[in-house]
Amino acid sequence: MENLENLKQQILSNIQQAPDVKALDEIRVSAMGKKGAVTELMKGLGALPQDEKIETGKKLNVLKQEIESALSARKDALETAELNQKLASESVDVTLPIRPENQGRIHPVSKIYEEVVAIFGQMGFDVAEGPDIEDQFHNFNALNMPANHPARQMQDTFYLPHSATEPFDMDKSYVIRTHTSGMQIRTMEAQKPPIRIIAPGRTYRSDYDATHTPMFHQVEGLVIDKTTTLAHLKGCLYDFVKAFFELDEIPVRYRPSYFPFTEPSAEMDIGCLKTKTELKIGAGNDWLEILGCGMVHPNVLKAGGIDPDEYQGFAFGVGLDRLAMLKYGIPDLRTFFESDVRWLKNYGFAPLDFSSMTGGLSNNGGQTR
Ligand code: PHE
Repeated sequence: MENLENLKQQILSNIQQAPDVKALDEIRVSAMGKKGAVTELMKGLGALPQDEKIETGKKLNVLKQEIESALSARKDALETAELNQKLASESVDVTLPIRPENQGRIHPVSKIYEEVVAIFGQMGFDVAEGPDIEDQFHNFNALNMPANHPARQMQDTFYLPHSATEPFDMDKSYVIRTHTSGMQIRTMEAQKPPIRIIAPGRTYRSDYDATHTPMFHQVEGLVIDKTTTLAHLKGCLYDFVKAFFELDEIPVRYRPSYFPFTEPSAEMDIGCLKTKTELKIGAGNDWLEILGCGMVHPNVLKAGGIDPDEYQGFAFGVGLDRLAMLKYGIPDLRTFFESDVRWLKNYGFAPLDFSSMTGGLSNNGGQTR
């Protein structure tokens, strides 16, 4: 059995000195593999007399365990060392300035989002955010659109199952919100008037062409107080479009429209000039529709827990992507979401050009684009 002790010392010392995981594996094979030294000894057990067989068998099992734990300890140590070495050699200094050609760009939708928040922020609006997955109460019912209301068909809704195991049930199912208007209700539930919020976010409808994508962005606006009127709505939106398009004057008009959650309802157009090659905003005899709005319907106030005899307000909804297309002359909405780096280089914005009402919204005169 002296031999066994020698063998053990030999193998353990080889393990200790193994320079890398590959060498360690070779040692494992040479000891415990099909033709390994320990395996051969195990095979020889059968030829030993009975009492020696038991004795040697036990020793060999102990030896095997010792080797295995030495192998695994060494493996851990080698792997940790390898990782540390890698971490040390592959570290980057994130404080180094980046080469301009490699600098990331801000997506036009993010830019527009910032601009809209800057404008309404300065008017005293808070930003409210809510879930993309919405229940039908907030997306429809509370907005004066009960089940089977024809207006539900105005929007091609994506429905989500309410349970992973039960069969699909239209009445219980969730939706991915078709508009941000559900945030009107969520806001009324969360705070008492006076209310002055915008709610920007993603919205979803089953639609796909040059001006529609299944996921798009909207900003909802909601103002509620005791004396809020249509005149406030008009003034607020007029100030918004002037600030947004960075123009001193801009013709606007309101066309009567229909939304179940506002009464009266309107669509706002801005004046523009359309030529074959160009779209100029703020001049000419053409009109562009840019948003939907109206006075909050009494039923909606009630659903939000607000007394319509005491309070009234206005709401509006704007498509952010459409604003980006108009302001920055981007022709096809689908390209927004193709993650094409060349597109982003062309239409994106420099990361440090923050939008603000005092420092400039789009920084168009600067080095932005
Ligand atoms: N939710 C409407 C839409 O998606 C827009 C809207 C919002 C209209 C608020 C009026 C008031 O088309």
